[in-house]
Amino acid sequence: MATVRLDQKGRALTRAIPASFDKALAKFFGSGPNDIELAKAQHLAYREALLAANVEVTVLPSDDKLPDSIFVEDQAVVIDGHVLLPVPGHPARVAEQPPIAEFVTRQLTGTQVCSMNGEARMDGGDIIRLGDLFFVGRSSRTNDAGIKELRDLLTHLGHELRVVEIPGHALHLTSISSTPTDSVIFAPEGYLPEDAFGVLPEGCEVIWMPKDEAYGCNTIGLPNGQVLVAEGYPTVLATVEAMGLQPVVLDMSQIRAADGSLTCCSLFY
Ligand code: GLY
Repeated sequence: MATVRLDQKGRALTRAIPASFDKALAKFFGSGPNDIELAKAQHLAYREALLAANVEVTVLPSDDKLPDSIFVEDQAVVIDGHVLLPVPGHPARVAEQPPIAEFVTRQLTGTQVCSMNGEARMDGGDIIRLGDLFFVGRSSRTNDAGIKELRDLLTHLGHELRVVEIPGHALHLTSISSTPTDSVIFAPEGYLPEDAFGVLPEGCEVIWMPKDEAYGCNTIGLPNGQVLVAEGYPTVLATVEAMGLQPVVLDMSQIRAADGSLTCCSLFY
């Protein structure tokens, strides 16, 4: 999940692959999943990698009526223990939210839960966090009204929000970027202007990756110095190693086929 700092990644919610996963939306970089057993094995390996890094992992049961429901990142935004429940940007994904909302609300007892309303739309996958600086993608899933509601919460919490324009051929901000640490953004050349993230705080930087490694720019940095990376992106892998971090390489082929990336499959809370 992209809205927590490294030190806040102690617990992650995931959701099991449904039998209908081959019907998941795949309109951007995915060609559609075609091997559900392999998808299940990849999802298990993902959860095991989180567990091996001492993350407490919960798996919600699958729901065969909801082909995209493994992508829990989109359904709730958890920031410093506060919860924002967005209206998902694709109508087919709205029904995924109730069990996730119920889970995080129960886990974070006493927390402030805000729900988006009206015209506001947002997928959690459009948010990344660099320390205490936040970025949101204005995308086909996240609109200005949704961004305003996120900004209201972040202002209340004393955090800055910057808006990044997502090109029409990309799904989410997290489809093309991530923060493997609290001071580094990975992003691909050719998708965003060089100044897309603005002037960063001292000690922070954007590391631009080759355009053909856009998918690999989605990583999950963990508090123990490990970084989950997708298999097949050599520059991303070498960069993680050069940063003195330990990459954990995962085969994401079936999840990628559903337009899903590493961060999409977990919600840190
Ligand atoms: N298949 C993931 C999404 O379109 O949201």
